[in-house]
Parts: sequence; C-alpha cells; structure tokens
Amino acid sequence: MVVERTFLAIKPDGVQRGLVGEILGRLERKGFKLVALKQLIPSRNLAEQHYGVHKERPFFDALVGFITSGPVVAMVWEGEGVISSARKLIGATKPLEAEPGTIRGDLAINIGRNVIHGSDSPETANFEISLWFKPDELNDWSPADQIWRVE
Ligand code: RTP
Ligand code: MG
Repeated sequence: MVVERTFLAIKPDGVQRGLVGEILGRLERKGFKLVALKQLIPSRNLAEQHYGVHKERPFFDALVGFITSGPVVAMVWEGEGVISSARKLIGATKPLEAEPGTIRGDLAINIGRNVIHGSDSPETANFEISLWFKPDELNDWSPADQIWRVE
C-alpha cells in the first residue's frame, strides 16, 4: 500500500448540524493524518469545477446551490490507502443504503444532504486537493507517536 492523500469536505449540512467534531474524530481515531484544514463558503466557480463531472446531470444546479449555501470544512487526509478507505468510512451516496457504522449510514437520511464529500480516485484526489488548497496550505509532518502507528 502506498501513502496517499485525499480531499474530504464536510458539506454545509454537516457544519450546520454540528457534526464537524464527530466526523474529524472518526477519521482521527481510524489513524489517518490530517494535513490541511480550513472552513470556507465555496464560490460558485469553485463548486462548479469541483462537481464538473456532474455538469449534465439534472441535480447539478441544486448540488452547486447547496454546496455554496454556507460554510464547508475542507480537509486533506494522508495515509496508506486513504482514498478508498475514506470512501468506505463515508458510506454509500444514498444514506438510507449506507451501512450502519459509516458516516452517512449513521448520520444522514437524504441523498442531497449526505454530510460529507470524499475523492473517488487518485486522479480525482490530486485534482480536488489542488483545486481547494494552495501548496503552502498542506503540511508535511510526522506524528510524535509514529513508531506506534506502523509495523
Ligand atoms: P460526493 O462526490 O459528494 O462525495 O458524493 P458521491 O461520490 O458519493 O456521489 P456522486 O455520484 O459523486 O454525487 C455527488 C453528489 O450529488 C448528489 N446527488 N444527488 N438526486 C440525485 O439523484 C443525486 N445523485 C447525486 C449527492 O449529494 C452526491 O453526494
Ligand atoms: Mg463523487
């Protein structure tokens, strides 16, 4: 397994519902490393680029409208296999189909209010990290207890 970075964002519903601490805690307890974090209200341009792959979908305008409606907590997490593992921790897109134990399975009901975004591939992760963060906003660091985290 290679060390990767992924882009995750707590959507406006997660922020409004006070779920930021709960979600950060799950990712920290799993053992992934937070290397960037900021809160922002995304511009329309940023949101349209982020969800550009869904441009032709009927829900695109509603999706962009929602994601720009309030503060989002944008993050980069690092670790072995973090891209696919974070997607598993997040759970299925439709919260009613997401497994209990996942973020969406435990904390959401509605597909349009599914609390968190996660990059779905290495290519998407690279694109989204550079879209949301400047290089100097990403921190290279090693946990003081690193020796206990690896074999
Ligand atoms: P995300 O990109 O936000 O992490 O979600 P995802 O990969 O699980 O799902 P994706 O297919 O990329 O869809 C992006 C977001 O669009 C909304 N959506 N609405 N009404 C609908 O049929 C529909 N389909 C997707 C969801 O909020 C989804 O998270
Ligand atoms: Mg997606």
